[in-house]
Amino acid sequence: MKLLTPTTIGDLQLKNRMVMAAMTRSRAPEDGLVQEMTATYYAQRSSAGLILSEATNISKDAIGSPFTPGLYTSGQVEAWKKVTETVHDEGGLIFAQLWHTGRVGHSVDRSNKLPLAPSAIAIEGQRHFTSEGMKDFETPREMSLEDIRQTILDYRQAALYAIEAGFDGVELHGANGYLPNQFLADSSNHRKDQYGGSVENRCRFMLEALETICEAIGSSKVGVKLSPLGTNNGIQLEDPVGTFSYLIEKINGLDLAFIELARRSPDADLLPRYPIENDVALFGDLVKTSLIANANYDRESGEKELIKGKADAISYARLFLANPDLPKRFELDADLNEADPKTMYGGTEKGYIDYPLLNQKVEV
Ligand SMILES: Cc1cc2nc3c(=O)[nH]c(=O)nc-3n(C[C@H](O)[C@H](O)[C@H](O)COP(=O)(O)O)c2cc1C
Repeated sequence: MKLLTPTTIGDLQLKNRMVMAAMTRSRAPEDGLVQEMTATYYAQRSSAGLILSEATNISKDAIGSPFTPGLYTSGQVEAWKKVTETVHDEGGLIFAQLWHTGRVGHSVDRSNKLPLAPSAIAIEGQRHFTSEGMKDFETPREMSLEDIRQTILDYRQAALYAIEAGFDGVELHGANGYLPNQFLADSSNHRKDQYGGSVENRCRFMLEALETICEAIGSSKVGVKLSPLGTNNGIQLEDPVGTFSYLIEKINGLDLAFIELARRSPDADLLPRYPIENDVALFGDLVKTSLIANANYDRESGEKELIKGKADAISYARLFLANPDLPKRFELDADLNEADPKTMYGGTEKGYIDYPLLNQKVEV
């Protein structure tokens, strides 16, 4: 199977083309320190060609959800070192996913400070998970030019910390309606300055963040996740195809290790002006570096996607969550464990490090 053949991403040799996609598991205490069990969780999944870590806050200002880890204090760097060492000991590779949530947050988990965003526009018609239960989204505070400059520096510092913590590289979280995605979208960015308006201006924030990260740690250690047709967290673009075509061409110029493209959920309503084709079919040929295709793939459809030739690797989220030995199971075409939605976010070791390996008896 092509999925089980090696490939190169950046300067790294991957033992297979099965990437573990980033998954927030909400098990970090308030100080954003990953726990001992997090090292076990990732080490169990180190047969993936590459692991993308759960989204990790680049600063205190970046926090949008409780119980999520950070990469902005020396304590957090030390805690992540245990994770990266354990993964490397098991022969795995791991990138840190760098996260700024922008308007997808709530002041109750931000020391009573409003979330920051390109414009003061709240997400409507949805509620947000907070440490005090579900709450309506608040109207965020519009970022000043100084906030933008500081945030880009925070990305840079978090990337440096990631390397210090032993990560093999970083992935900028540019998908799913978080801050860089908010800058791209007409529904969340009404700015009149150089970060709003034209396609070029709306792409500026993400490109500046990527450039700065590349300058700090080297472009072969940097990837980005995009969800061009995704509408999560109130994201809508007037011209998604034009905007993402421009963005991907500019990203090509940065010589990153990879672009991960998350396909639109088949359950999401198709917005009027949005194309019916999926993101990989639409944008795959534009990507000049390694392309990691994501979302809703299984063994057969992942293999088919690789054979089509646009994608170099497939990232799996829920399948890796429930099947630590996923490559082995694909090799043997074995049965798969089902992910339990109740333990996806938050909690203990249950539903985190106790998914059984093939032929492993579950203790009851
Ligand atoms: C529990 C859970 C947490 C997730 N957290 C993140 C995250 O932190 N960062 C991210 O980019 N995507 C996140 N996602 C989305 C996945 O990376 C992936 O794009 C999505 O689940 C589709 O892939 P799949 O069909 O293989 O599950 C999460 C998904 C799940 C199920």
